[in-house]
Amino acid sequence: METVVSGIRSTGNLHLGNYFGAVKNFLRMQRENRCFFFIADYHSLTTHPKPDDLHGNIKQVLAEYLACGIDPDIATVFIQSDVPEVTELYLLLNMNAYVGELERTTSFKEKIRKQPDNINAGLLTYPVLMAADIIIHKANKVPVGKDQEQHLEMTRRFARRFNTMYGVNYFPEPDAYNFGQQLIKIPGLDGSGKMGKSEGNGIFLADRPEEIRRKVMRAVTDSGPTTPGQEMTEPVKNLFTILEVVSEPSTVSHFREKYSTCEIRYGDLKKQLGEDIVRFTEPIREKINDILSDSAYLSKVVSEGAEKARESASRTIREVREIIGYRKF
Ligand code: TRP
Repeated sequence: METVVSGIRSTGNLHLGNYFGAVKNFLRMQRENRCFFFIADYHSLTTHPKPDDLHGNIKQVLAEYLACGIDPDIATVFIQSDVPEVTELYLLLNMNAYVGELERTTSFKEKIRKQPDNINAGLLTYPVLMAADIIIHKANKVPVGKDQEQHLEMTRRFARRFNTMYGVNYFPEPDAYNFGQQLIKIPGLDGSGKMGKSEGNGIFLADRPEEIRRKVMRAVTDSGPTTPGQEMTEPVKNLFTILEVVSEPSTVSHFREKYSTCEIRYGDLKKQLGEDIVRFTEPIREKINDILSDSAYLSKVVSEGAEKARESASRTIREVREIIGYRKF
């Protein structure tokens, strides 16, 4: 059985792109692997969230993941800050991480550009903390998006460096896991690119039905096909891509047919798409709300998750301390 680790920063709600791009695959992986899914709340501190917001953000993401079907009876679901062992490994790995390589990291350079007045050391060592998250459970596979590839490369490098430095074969080198053919990129509603958090572009799992219908009705289209069999423009293709993941195949072929004979009315397409998205998200939204109001359940999930994660993490810390040369008096 392979070990899978993936973390989600507690910033912002989940949207359809997160669901079909990542979460859906977590659901499949959780049965076949030893999985650790956690909320990366230490990582979220790099942007200095207000104390009053921090807990709510963590709770929301946790509830959304559980509502999607991540099963805490199968996978270990936990909050990063409940596992202090990770900070110890982070400190130890920091001793072998070079400032030069950290400064050259793409995500760090991007942050310097985007938040020039808050270039904290936590941002610089972000990849070290992420490596600690992963190798503390001796993970083999890390399901993440393309934007995390470089961080995974660094994780492998830190793991390898530790092994070489101490002449051991202790940490496995984990791979970024992507789902090959099954990786779907969900486009946004604003006509181009992937679904994101910007206004009008993303549909969140926690959106109310009327909000979803409003967003879909406002999605960008074009002036319609004029010759039979004409190729679709990107905004229209995007609507069909979303239709394909949420609607019945017969619905998809109905509208494809209408498009190719130039009889399509985008208003009808959007109405159907809106309804089908609502049909998909509404049970999840209800579950999110149920879970959010069940403090006893959340607290049980979090404490059991922390216990399982700490068991795995503390074993690693014990062995790593031994390897480094700490001895009992
Ligand atoms: N950096 C990841 C992101 O922004 C979140 C993350 C933190 C993570 N630690 C991790 C992902 C460990 C996978 C494994 O999405």
